[in-house]
Amino acid sequence: MPFLTDDELVRRAWDARGHSCSQYSGFAVGAALEADDGRIFTGCNVESSSYGLTCCAERVALFKALSEGVRAFRRVAVVTAAPRVCPPCGACRQVLADYAPGIAVIMANESERILSTLDELFPFGFDQNFLARP
Ligand code: THU
Repeated sequence: MPFLTDDELVRRAWDARGHSCSQYSGFAVGAALEADDGRIFTGCNVESSSYGLTCCAERVALFKALSEGVRAFRRVAVVTAAPRVCPPCGACRQVLADYAPGIAVIMANESERILSTLDELFPFGFDQNFLARP
């Protein structure tokens, strides 16, 4: 499976953002997650009238992939139309660290793009190693 360019991955995230269920916040987010084998899993934020049940675009994309047995990831693109480029929230950073450690993170809006890594965005994070009993 051919790998996408950053531009193409960001484009897939914009497409996914079009499905955003963000009627409560008005803040639409799209994500496109690339697996090691080149498959792309997209997500948008899905909000609930019980606000705390909302799921971010990044986790929707990741959960779709995990639920199909995919366990190795390369890049994730996150897009919003906000004036400032939006990074993954803390909860998404934790879950990405659990299932996609070391992943590259592309954050974009209509005019700007920031390339980063989860290692940079989530230093000294909690992980399964802390669960080990002595
Ligand atoms: N949101 C995401 O989808 N991803 C993030 O990383 C930040 C926040 C969503 C959650 C909620 O639907 C809306 O943006 C406002 O917080």
